[in-house]
Amino acid sequence: MRLILSFLVGIVFTLVVLAGVGYFAVKTGIVPADADSKPAALESWVANTALHAALERDTKDLRNPIQPSDENLITGVHLYAENCAICHGASDGRPSNLAQGFYIEAPQLAKDGVEDDPEAVSFWKVKHGIRFTAMPSFTSTLKEEEIWKIAMFLRQMDKLPPAVDAEWKKVPSVLSPK
Ligand code: HEC
Repeated sequence: MRLILSFLVGIVFTLVVLAGVGYFAVKTGIVPADADSKPAALESWVANTALHAALERDTKDLRNPIQPSDENLITGVHLYAENCAICHGASDGRPSNLAQGFYIEAPQLAKDGVEDDPEAVSFWKVKHGIRFTAMPSFTSTLKEEEIWKIAMFLRQMDKLPPAVDAEWKKVPSVLSPK
């Protein structure tokens, strides 16, 4: 009985010390609060592992219900231009000032695209966003069918039918005036 009691007291003591160290680190500014340094290895590991686990769990049975067609792809291009180009760039792959300032870099999708990702993965990221990054959730601002059209466009970005590609090339870069 005494052994169990000492064991429990030991656990509580350890937890109190850890909480104290955590509080001290936050209050004295040891925990970084800036957006212009690189994320720590542990932080990246936690965020990436949690994201992959969520994608694995939620996208297994998710299928795009939208028929591929030039019309649907062009809608995807227009929705991308309105909602995404400010962070992910246009067809020239040049980042806006905004995109260059994020703590977690926003990939310029014309250069570092996601054509290899299943449409369901891009759908999930756009619908739910990515926690601890600037990637927003579009749950309340885009309809599911609109998100699927964007996901379809992302999947085919490097091999678009000519009429869709022409529309994509018209999307202006979001660069700040020099
Ligand atoms: C305010 C900036 C911002 C906006 C607007 C934004 N994103 Fe993102 N997005 C990000 C950032 C930052 C990341 C990187 C997150 C990460 O690395 O985990 C990201 C990641 C992604 C990824 C994953 C890329 C990869 O390499 O795995 C996809 C796909 C994506 N965004 C698509 C979109 C689409 C489509 C839209 C518009 C509907 C959009 N994003 C709007 C900032 C933004």
